[in-house]
This record gives sequence, structure tokens and C-alpha cells, in this order.
Amino acid sequence: MTNCGRRRGGRPRRVAGSSLGANYCLDLTPRVTLRQASVRDLDFILGLEGESSVRRFIHPWRLDEHLAAIVDTERGHLIVESAGLPVGFVIIGGLHVASSIEVKRLAVSRRSEGFGRAAMLAAIEWISPFRRGRPVWLDVYDDNVVARSLYESVGFAETTRLPSADGRELIVLELRD
Ligand SMILES: CC(C)(COP(=O)(O)OP(=O)(O)OC[C@H]1O[C@@H](n2cnc3c(N)ncnc32)[C@H](O)[C@@H]1OP(=O)(O)O)[C@@H](O)C(=O)NCCC(=O)NCCS
Repeated sequence: MTNCGRRRGGRPRRVAGSSLGANYCLDLTPRVTLRQASVRDLDFILGLEGESSVRRFIHPWRLDEHLAAIVDTERGHLIVESAGLPVGFVIIGGLHVASSIEVKRLAVSRRSEGFGRAAMLAAIEWISPFRRGRPVWLDVYDDNVVARSLYESVGFAETTRLPSADGRELIVLELRD
């Protein structure tokens, strides 16, 4: 029976099986798509940002800040969908002019089910045509173990640490190709 390439310590995303003597792997990673957010998505976005387990790790925006970001051509304000329903959002900054591209925010409504990983991989692909050799970076609080684990597993590596106002550290990570 195959081990399906499972990473050491990783939770199962694929299950192994066999049929008629042939081993196979069933990929359980959820399928997601990204689309541009619109005004109609703001209830979902603000609701998700308002959850205490999300708010702890991000700096929620006001309604007008989201509205401005949705029409800002330098940003991607994207809804993560699965089976036609929103499961999260991701905000990208620095699409055209800045010297680097920032993954500003990622949050999913169904956590620890693989949606965050699927969304980040989709976001990296979405960013690709904008990169033109520029670095992609993000920052994450040191106590956000789930996000740190996800980011490192998709290719981000720590570049620096900065103190934050509340005593935690902000870890800056850059995507390694
Ligand atoms: C961070 C976040 C986007 C990750 O998405 P997710 O769907 O919960 O995570 P996934 O199920 O895709 O798992 C990705 C990795 O995170 C880690 N992880 C996920 N859930 C975990 C848990 N409950 N305990 C420990 N590690 C966990 C694992 O390393 C996992 O990889 P693996 O499945 O190969 O083991 C999501 O939890 C979230 O929205 N959190 C609140 C907002 C936030 O913190 N955003 C990031 C700000 S920088």
C-alpha cells in the first residue's frame, strides 16, 4: 500500500487504497476558485473578520477600507469559493507598481479542512502573471502556528522578525521559488 507521499507530521490530505491489485491515492484537498470580490461579498468578509479566532491574527478593516480595496487596481480582493459558495477571502497588494507583492490577508470560514492551503496555492498561481521577478511576501504573528505551518509548507521562508505593539512578534516571510 502506498503512503501517498504524506509529509512527516502532516495530517492526512490523501488516503491510500487498492483496487484489483493496483494502489491508488485519493486526493482530499478541497477544490477552490478565486474571483474578484464585490460589494455583495462585504457581509461575508466583515463577518469572517469579526470572528474572535480570526480577529486575533489580523487587523480587520472597516467597511470603507474594504470598499476602497475592491476598486483599487493595485490590489486583488478575492473571494475563495468552493462548490459555488464563499469559504474565505484573500487580499493581495502591490500588483503593478510596488517593488514587491504582498499577500495582505487570508482567512477561511471552515478551518483545518484544507481550504486555507487550497486558497494559498490558488493565490500564488493567481499572482504569478503579475510577478515579473518581484518577491512575494507576507507577515504573520509568531503565535499563529496554523498559518505559519501552512505558509512554510507552501514555500514561504522567514526573512525577518519585527516587534508588534501588543508584545507579539511579526514574522516576515518571503516566497522561495
Ligand atoms: C490560517 C488559515 C488561513 C489556515 O487555513 P486552514 O484551512 O485552517 O488550514 P488547512 O486545513 O489548509 O491546513 C494547512 C496547514 O495548517 C496546519 N494546521 C491546520 N489546522 C491545524 C490545527 N488545527 N492544528 C495545527 N496545525 C494545523 C497544518 O500544518 C496544515 O497542513 P497539513 O494539513 O498538511 O497538516 C485559517 O486557519 C484561518 O483563516 N485562520 C484565521 C485567520 C488567520 O489567521 N489568517 C492568517 C493571518 S496571517
